[in-house]
Amino acid sequence: MTVKKTLRRVLLLALVVALGLTFSPMGNKILDAIAFTNVDPTANSSTGSTYEQRANHSPDGIGKFYMGREIAQVMGHLGAGWLERPTREREERPQQLINSLNLKSTDVVADIGAGTGYFSFRMATLVPNGKVLAVDVQPEMIEILNGLKQEKRIETVESVLGSVTNPNLPLASVDLAIMVDAYHEFDHPREMMSAIAQALKPSGRVVLVEYRGENPLVPIKPLHKMTQRQARKELASVGLNWLETKDFLPQQHVMIFGKKA
Ligand SMILES: C[S@@+](CC[C@H](N)C(=O)[O-])C[C@H]1O[C@@H](n2cnc3c(N)ncnc32)[C@H](O)[C@@H]1O
Repeated sequence: MTVKKTLRRVLLLALVVALGLTFSPMGNKILDAIAFTNVDPTANSSTGSTYEQRANHSPDGIGKFYMGREIAQVMGHLGAGWLERPTREREERPQQLINSLNLKSTDVVADIGAGTGYFSFRMATLVPNGKVLAVDVQPEMIEILNGLKQEKRIETVESVLGSVTNPNLPLASVDLAIMVDAYHEFDHPREMMSAIAQALKPSGRVVLVEYRGENPLVPIKPLHKMTQRQARKELASVGLNWLETKDFLPQQHVMIFGKKA
């Protein structure tokens, strides 16, 4: 048999196998398995994208789904007064949360989704030789935060206008990145958390504070809560390792993550 003939036979055989695989149900499964072997495991298998847009969705969400969760609408700057409500201390015990962070005086803290800076200003008193980078995507929130900074004369809080995909933090510079009631609103959670992971120092921690999604009695709209299971799944997908969850707050989980070694 000539080389040409052998080549023709091999090509023909490959064609037959490929056709067989394509048109038989088992073949489809095998081909799917091959096709998805190197695909991002968080991707939506029907569109190949990380996010999925659905027409049928909650009025409190943006119709965009990430790893099975619908992303909540952003709380607008007109809600700033609610963040600063005097009853917050009694309802949520924010000072107890801050004390639990064990901040060192030189720490660089990133408060992402800082809003009015409710947590930024309180944490700043504990890091006199470090700083708090208060990040938000709403210029109006940043304006309110800058006004309060002037009033309170706290120089160690620096406001940062982020984008929906990037908190604009320097690489490997942050000891602690905290998000209080903010992560569930992130429009691009995957991009944001990857950028936050890059901004962390190797020993840095991420603290996610979210209303407990498992508890129907927590009086917050479902999309503005998160279950531990969901949060851990989403952060693991960007290389953030769950370390522990502290459940001492009345309504929120305090979930702590570190970088995977
Ligand atoms: C419910 S408020 C919480 C504010 C603050 N952490 C607190 O507890 O007082 C959520 C904030 O997250 C901000 N936010 C939403 N998506 C963001 C993103 N991708 N990057 C930074 N901030 C974001 C919103 O603009 C809003 O100010």
